[in-house]
Amino acid sequence: MDDLNQLQEQIKLELIAARDPEALEQWRIKYLGRKGLMNNLFRGLGSMLVEDRAARGKALNQFRQMVQEAFEERQQALKEAQLQAELAAEGVDVTLPGRRPQLGHIHPISRTLRDIYRVFSNMGFQIYTARDVETDEVNFQLLNFPKGHPAREMQDTFHTTVPDILLRTHTSPGQIRAMRDYHPEPIRVILPGKCYRYEQVTARSEMMFYQVEGLAVGRHITFADLKGTLVAFANQLFGEGRKLRFRCSHFPFTEPSAEVDIDCISCGGKGCRLCKYTGWLEILGCGMVHPNVLRNGGYDPDIYSGYAFGMGPERIAMLLHNVDDIRYFYANDARFLPQFA
Ligand code: DAH
Repeated sequence: MDDLNQLQEQIKLELIAARDPEALEQWRIKYLGRKGLMNNLFRGLGSMLVEDRAARGKALNQFRQMVQEAFEERQQALKEAQLQAELAAEGVDVTLPGRRPQLGHIHPISRTLRDIYRVFSNMGFQIYTARDVETDEVNFQLLNFPKGHPAREMQDTFHTTVPDILLRTHTSPGQIRAMRDYHPEPIRVILPGKCYRYEQVTARSEMMFYQVEGLAVGRHITFADLKGTLVAFANQLFGEGRKLRFRCSHFPFTEPSAEVDIDCISCGGKGCRLCKYTGWLEILGCGMVHPNVLRNGGYDPDIYSGYAFGMGPERIAMLLHNVDDIRYFYANDARFLPQFA
C-alpha cells in the first residue's frame, strides 16, 4: 500500500496549498469528484486478483474516509479564515477582551446636599431655589446691610460690569425672594445653591461654594422652634445623641442671632485636632428673622415671625469625611473623588 501513503502526502500538501474556496473546489474535483482520483482507485479494484481485493478494498475505504475528513477540516478552516478577514476589514477584533464601562458616582458635595434635603424634607421643608446673580439690594440692602455697612467686609463680592448686579455672596437673599413669592402664606423652605466670594482660596475657603439656607415664617414661630428643628437635624445628619451649643452671635438679618456648634464627632467632646481641642465644631449660623427683613419680604412683623439658618455643605462634608482641605472637592483629582464612590 505504499502508493496510498505517498498519495496521502501529496494530497495533504495540495490541500494546504488551496487557500480559497475556488482552489479548494479544484482540489475536491481532482480527488473526490466523480472522475477524480478516488473513484479511479476504486475502479482499479475490478482488475485485481480476488484474494487481494478484500485487503485493498478495506485500505481504500480507510483512505477515502481520511481524505474526506481532511477535506471537511480544510473547508471549515477556510470558512473561519474568511469570516476573520471580513471582520478585520470592518476593523473589529472580536478576540479583544471587553472594556468595562467606568461607572460614575455622585459627587461628595451632591451627596451631602441630598442628605441635608432628605432630613429637612422629612420635617416638611420644601426646596426653593433662588438666583445666583443677584442685585446689591436683595443680596445686601434688604437684609439690613446698607451700602457701606461694615458687615459687608466679611463677604468680599464679585461685582459685574452692570452696576449693582453681583454674584450672590450667600443664600440669604433667597429669603427675600421666597417671602415675596409665598406672601402671605406661611413658609417652611430650605434654599440650597452656589455662592461666590472674591476670596483668597485656602484650605478653608473657596471662591465658589454651596450654602443651604433655611427659612420658616408664620404666626407664633419662636426661637424654641428653631432650636428643636436644628437639634432634630443634627441628630439625623451626624448621628443620635448629639449635643448642640447655641452661641450668641450677630448677623444683620437676624435678631437675636446665634452660631451653632455640635459636640465633636471625632472625640465626643474630649478635645482633639479636629475640634482644635475645644470639644465643639461650628456647623451653622441662625437666628430669628429681623423685623426689617420680614417687612422687606412683605410680612408684617407685628403679626408674623420667623427663623432662618444657613450652613455650608462643604464644611459639613469635611467634618463627616475627615477632609482637611476644601479645595479637594473641586480640584477633580481622580485620586480624591473615587473614595466617595
Ligand atoms: N448668610 C450667612 C453667611 O453667609 C449665613 C447665615 C447666618 C444664614 C445666619 C442665616 C442665618 O440664615 O440666620 O455668612
